[in-house]
Amino acid sequence: MISNRELFLNYLGQTSESPYLLEIESANGIYLIGPDKKKYIDLISGVSVSSLGHNFPPIKKAIEEQVQKHLHLMVYGEFIQSPQVKLAEYLVKLLPQEINSVYLVNSGSEAIEGAVKLAKRYTGRTKMCSFVNAYHGSSHAALSLCGNEDFKKSFRPLLPEVYILRINNYEDLNIIDEDTACVVIEPIQAEAGIIIPDKKWFKVLETKCKQNGTLLIIDEVQTGFGRTGKMFGFQHFDITPDIVCFAKALGGGMPIGAFVASKKIMHSFTTNPILGHITTFGGHPVSAAAALAFLQHLNQSQLIEEVEEKEKLFRKNLKHQKIKEIRGKGLLLAVEIENFDMVLKLVKQGLKDGFITDWFIFHDSAFRIAPPLNITKEEILLASKLIIESLNKI
Ligand SMILES: Cc1ncc(COP(=O)(O)O)c(C=O)c1O
Repeated sequence: MISNRELFLNYLGQTSESPYLLEIESANGIYLIGPDKKKYIDLISGVSVSSLGHNFPPIKKAIEEQVQKHLHLMVYGEFIQSPQVKLAEYLVKLLPQEINSVYLVNSGSEAIEGAVKLAKRYTGRTKMCSFVNAYHGSSHAALSLCGNEDFKKSFRPLLPEVYILRINNYEDLNIIDEDTACVVIEPIQAEAGIIIPDKKWFKVLETKCKQNGTLLIIDEVQTGFGRTGKMFGFQHFDITPDIVCFAKALGGGMPIGAFVASKKIMHSFTTNPILGHITTFGGHPVSAAAALAFLQHLNQSQLIEEVEEKEKLFRKNLKHQKIKEIRGKGLLLAVEIENFDMVLKLVKQGLKDGFITDWFIFHDSAFRIAPPLNITKEEILLASKLIIESLNKI
């Protein structure tokens, strides 16, 4: 019989010449489990997705209940569907009160796409800014905002009038002017290798946007929902976004995204012409039901309060001569080792030793620690021990 590995290589479109080729049959809590029953500690959460771990019972229950009621009914925005409206209400209550209108989509890229279109429509402007080594997704608009020329050059021409600024550089903020529709920024840059902007600089950025009528779009796709120790990453900086984008963890393991703005801004999608953004599956009822269960559990638990302590535990236990620095906030950490070669060796050794890590798209000399937020202290100790042992072997 042809193996799943052969099927994978023969029939699935590949994104690199060296995929992990790790076969997973089931998953539970922080563990991914192979066909041979080998267990791997998931230190990346499917890249900041599985914040309540795998197979989380309340999320599965919500999915099962919704499956019994209905699947897809109609394109987004036409019918009243209980999972969508309840999710939108819950999300709005977690956000600052001026950000109160939710548009549900399918992914992070689509959330960025929608947010940028909304900013263009609302302001009537086309100029945009983003930041060096920012990653906002893989669609053309998201790629246009990507802050890494190597990654995007083969897709040009992309959107015109996109300016790539430097994080923490005050002079670059002068590029924001009355022609600028929006500035798009991750509150903590993820794929850049975890870069945290200065709070003072972020406030100046916010002020500059306000002065020019430029919309501040915050990309919370990786940082949202407790990953950095607060419900939202922007809360570390005492700023208020005009539009905020979500995906990844929001669905509790199901695909869903959202961009959220004030009612006034969102209204600009309804006229001149109507249907400013349309999406067939955006806010799929099963994904919306899962997302609501995820948000309710997260918000009612102590998990976010515990994130800082868990970060400290990783930092305390990850001491090794090969570790140069640990950067990041909460459970979004980059562990700097010498070079990509060493990161690659560690990733491979980790698979042998029973844990999963990887590198960052635009920073390859650090490995990623972004486990489910409900990882226990004992599990952190075990994961740290495995990492140290693997570092000894490479
Ligand atoms: C910060 C950020 N924004 C947007 C995206 C795009 O999300 P998606 O892959 O769901 O399109 C990602 C994906 O990694 C991301 O990290």
